[in-house]
Amino acid sequence: MKPTIASFPAARPRRLRRAPALRNLVRETTVTSDDLIWPIFVREGDGVEEPIASMPGVHRLSIDKAVSAAIEAQALGIPAICLFPYTDQALKTEDCADAWSPDNLVNRAIRAIKAAAPDVAIMTDVALDPYNINGHDGYVVDGEIVNDASVEALVKMTLAQADAGADIIGPSDMMDGRIGAMRNALERAGHQHVTILSYAAKYASAYYGPFRDAVGASGALKGDKKTYQMDPGNTDEALRMIERDLGEGADMVMVKPGQAYLDICQRVKSTFGAPTFAYQVSGEYAMIEAAAQNGWINGEAVMMESLMAFKRSGCDGVLTYYAPKAARILNGG
Ligand code: PBG
Repeated sequence: MKPTIASFPAARPRRLRRAPALRNLVRETTVTSDDLIWPIFVREGDGVEEPIASMPGVHRLSIDKAVSAAIEAQALGIPAICLFPYTDQALKTEDCADAWSPDNLVNRAIRAIKAAAPDVAIMTDVALDPYNINGHDGYVVDGEIVNDASVEALVKMTLAQADAGADIIGPSDMMDGRIGAMRNALERAGHQHVTILSYAAKYASAYYGPFRDAVGASGALKGDKKTYQMDPGNTDEALRMIERDLGEGADMVMVKPGQAYLDICQRVKSTFGAPTFAYQVSGEYAMIEAAAQNGWINGEAVMMESLMAFKRSGCDGVLTYYAPKAARILNGG
């Protein structure tokens, strides 16, 4: 549809920008706390809130503190949280067995949070990197990240998370065939209501740096993730990945990172119309925080503008470390 506009002075677009009431009335896109998924880092211990140097304002939380965060999310109207483990170095192995242990950190956190904040949806991350001595999302055999054996491990991890009570499974591993394998396994195990939010278009990005510190994977990672995560030069490939994952049974899809990939978000939403999310990743958060700390930008204003951009590009919601801060502002204080 081509927009029609009268010519000047019949049209004076500034009329509608004159006052907040008029601007509010005609705004096309809005952000609400319903649009937010809050990623939370969990660690062992009790009463611990450990700061992450490269992500000012974000902490690794012991399970009791993660429970408090989930209760806060519920009070703020944030519909979902997403759990990432800071796994003890001693538990990292080549076979990554802790990933599907029913009593690993994430699965214990899921059960504790479900009991205390039942109205918050719990999303998980499915990838081997927090459990892998090699820091990769899949198994490493003779220097290669092997696909099919990794998928088998990821399916076990998925089932353990679903058994613990996860509502949204978030495969971030970028192995081929994983969504179908997970969906089949969930159906067979009686978890037909568990949803999958596939990290379908996940790029091999330098923006993940602070996250790898946060989960303690940067030291372990040998090489890069370019043989499984996507090349930043590709758009059509992202559409094929989204189509494939929806076809294999993903309920929702994600583009990651976010702000540098808004063109992908827009094409994905307009092509498929499926529930589409972006991940405003650790590096995006760190960049805004660093500039704000230097007094170079207004951090809160840039935060809100960045969230608006995701919605404007067509995303239904955003995974963002800013979720609690943004929700407080959106709720009026
Ligand atoms: C791991 C995973 C990563 C992120 C989410 N899940 C890092 C990676 O792929 O190396 C990044 C999130 C962020 O940077 O905030 N599979």
